[in-house]
Amino acid sequence: MVQLRMSRKQHASNGFESYGEALLGVPPIIDARQVVKTYDTGTDRVTVLKGVDFSVAPGEMVAVMGPSGCGKTTLLNCLSGLDNVDSGTIALDGADLARMSDRQRTDYRARKMGFIFQVYNLLPVLSAVENVELPLLVAGVRPRQARKQAHEALERVGLGKWANHRPARLSGGQRQRVTIARALVTNPTIVWADEPTGALDSKTAVEIMNLMRELNRRDGLTFVIVTHDPGIGDRCDRIVRMRDGQIAGVVNHDALAEVDAVATD
Ligand SMILES: Nc1ncnc2c1ncn2[C@@H]1O[C@H](COP(=O)(O)OP(=O)(O)OP(=O)(O)O)[C@@H](O)[C@H]1O
Ligand SMILES: [Mg+2]
Repeated sequence: MVQLRMSRKQHASNGFESYGEALLGVPPIIDARQVVKTYDTGTDRVTVLKGVDFSVAPGEMVAVMGPSGCGKTTLLNCLSGLDNVDSGTIALDGADLARMSDRQRTDYRARKMGFIFQVYNLLPVLSAVENVELPLLVAGVRPRQARKQAHEALERVGLGKWANHRPARLSGGQRQRVTIARALVTNPTIVWADEPTGALDSKTAVEIMNLMRELNRRDGLTFVIVTHDPGIGDRCDRIVRMRDGQIAGVVNHDALAEVDAVATD
């Protein structure tokens, strides 16, 4: 128990691989070191990520915050393997992303990662359940099984009764719930969310955050959430602040407080 009582300053000198590992004693899902990403626009080269270290432990809920243009979406795209990096290393479940073939990466993303974006990216001609089952069908799951899992995912986000509605007949909050169901239907290791509440009114944003927090606490789903909303950041375990392509600071919230509370019992 006593070993759990560890300040953030201490963990850095304790030989642990990452904050997450120090906190939970388990290897991180994502472990990125010194990631550099440059975009070549034809006329000039812009270095958007300038040596970023970022790791996430299983079961964590991490917010990434910072001014517009500081590189948050780029970081998310690089860490999830959607975009290539110039240098640095990214390990997913201990496997080096750079050593995976395109096919392996695509497969890893399809099976282990869920994505939620500000724009819902739902297909308008498909019903909610058809949208949610799509990633499973793409991954080769049999239609009957895919439909069953899609219904279960919609139940988990409180939309069981809306399964046969098309997106146009759903509210903004309900649409975002469908995208969350679609993100978790494959039972991913990690869910990436880029401004998931950016298009919602504040009351609906709170509802969506409550849902994500519940999925995290109840089902242990790991989230990395890019957000401008301080209300979202405050409810995550950790806020990673970015500025101009670098990590400008980290704020730890209740995760560490909970560990401390256990340790002092
Ligand atoms: N494909 C691209 N080609 C060239 N430049 C790009 C590309 N994508 C992003 N950038 C540039 O990289 C920088 C970071 O962009 P990014 O989208 O990561 O910022 P962000 O922090 O997500 O901002 P926002 O909060 O507005 O979404 C910006 O200057 C942007 O113009
Ligand atoms: Mg962005």
